[in-house]
Amino acid sequence: MTIALSALCLGAKAETNITPDTTKEKHIIPAEVYGQFAEHLGSCIYGGIWVGEQSPIANVNGYRKDVLEALKALHVPVMRWPGGCFADNYHWRDGIGPQNERPRMVNTNWGGTVEDNSFGTHEFLNLCELLGCEPYVSANIGSGTVEEMAKWVEYMTSDDDSPLANLRRQNGREKAWKVKYFGVGNESWGCGGQMRPEYYSDEYRRYAEYCRSFSGNQLFKIASGASDYDFNWTEVLMKQIGNRMQGVSLHYYSVINWDNKGKATEFDDQQYYSFLAKCQDIEPIIQRHIGIMNEYDPENKIKLLVDEWGTWWEVEEGTNPGHLFQQNTMRDAMVAALSLNIFHRYTDRILMTNIAQVVNVLQAMILTRDEKMLLTPTYHIYRMYAPHQNAQHLPLSITSPVLTRQVALQANGTISEVELSKVSATASQKAGVTTISLVNIDLEKPETIRIPLHQLAAAKVVNAEILTAKKATAHNTFDQPNQVVPVAFKDYKVQKG
Ligand code: AHR
Repeated sequence: MTIALSALCLGAKAETNITPDTTKEKHIIPAEVYGQFAEHLGSCIYGGIWVGEQSPIANVNGYRKDVLEALKALHVPVMRWPGGCFADNYHWRDGIGPQNERPRMVNTNWGGTVEDNSFGTHEFLNLCELLGCEPYVSANIGSGTVEEMAKWVEYMTSDDDSPLANLRRQNGREKAWKVKYFGVGNESWGCGGQMRPEYYSDEYRRYAEYCRSFSGNQLFKIASGASDYDFNWTEVLMKQIGNRMQGVSLHYYSVINWDNKGKATEFDDQQYYSFLAKCQDIEPIIQRHIGIMNEYDPENKIKLLVDEWGTWWEVEEGTNPGHLFQQNTMRDAMVAALSLNIFHRYTDRILMTNIAQVVNVLQAMILTRDEKMLLTPTYHIYRMYAPHQNAQHLPLSITSPVLTRQVALQANGTISEVELSKVSATASQKAGVTTISLVNIDLEKPETIRIPLHQLAAAKVVNAEILTAKKATAHNTFDQPNQVVPVAFKDYKVQKG
């Protein structure tokens, strides 16, 4: 057995001890926990992923070459599209057929931008094929019809001699695509139709009924789930929809005050710790949603999908407020790593998560400006954590110093004291390699960590890298894209196992 280490820290001697926790069950971490999300929002699709074949920006059939290559290195397992809020405004027939004949549309959710629909069903599903990932299609229940949704499924997945399959053939795609993950609406309590959970449940039942599994394609239907603390939404859906859904979603953004979200790159130590505390609040929230699911589904057949999560800051100055374009610092990297460490612990019920969003929107992996591209600190976390995909989770027991910090976790700015574990860790094993990821959130001091490698079935270190910076505000820019990049980590000793 060998070991691959990845670490994330800001400062470098109290002592943390990490041992295997043999009281916990081991599950496989589904690759889908590393899912991405691409919405028609700002420059996520247009300019970020898609530039069109005629663009002077290097592209492969219209997809940006640099972005494609960067995403391939992440081994993206699943991509959610076309929204988000956009999904309940999207009429799929506008996005098929010759690109120059497609109708234009106003993206009323996001900045009133006019889109030419040149990126539609074919372009999305072909992108998934290029990336080797599963598509996750979110369909329109808010402003679309049952017939429209049912026919979209037939168009994408039927290999029969049927009108919709033939229309797809006419548009250049002979073989049906495989589409497993299928969302029936998005945020149906809000931008997806302002529904009550009882009403949504009935709507779900009606729409989902007509979404058939064609030609051996098996749909995994996902109900539009709750936002953070709305436990009643989950309870009603579990009661009213039950096993008519294979999954239910949950959205959680690390936002403290929606009216004053704070700047992405300008923050003090208190704001840093406040947002790390806020992001870790997702754990009790997940526990309560799972608790409700356990009550109605003790056999654990219905899965939880955290299909939107991440940081949400004020937009970068001079950008369209409706385009949600934000920078990404070491603080975002911490949020990503801490959240992934949490998700790993609940993968008996959590099947998928989709960080929002892949390019140019919110906590993005990649930022682009014209022909320039940069990889964010969050991207580097996803690359360093990729070996955890489809690996067996090794539950850990961690004793680490506690950081007592004054934080503001309420929108009104009330200060409270929290205790944060200085070190967070996760480990998994796949094909004879143990991967251990360590996160030291302390802004001031490094930490010595002791790990009994032999107990984790690891004999030698094969690779170790670290993502760190002098300041939490460190980030990459188009002019200096390599300010925050992982480097080889050599500051370790292997002694007596
Ligand atoms: O990710 C941005 C938006 O946040 C999504 O469109 C919506 O579902 C959520 O409110």
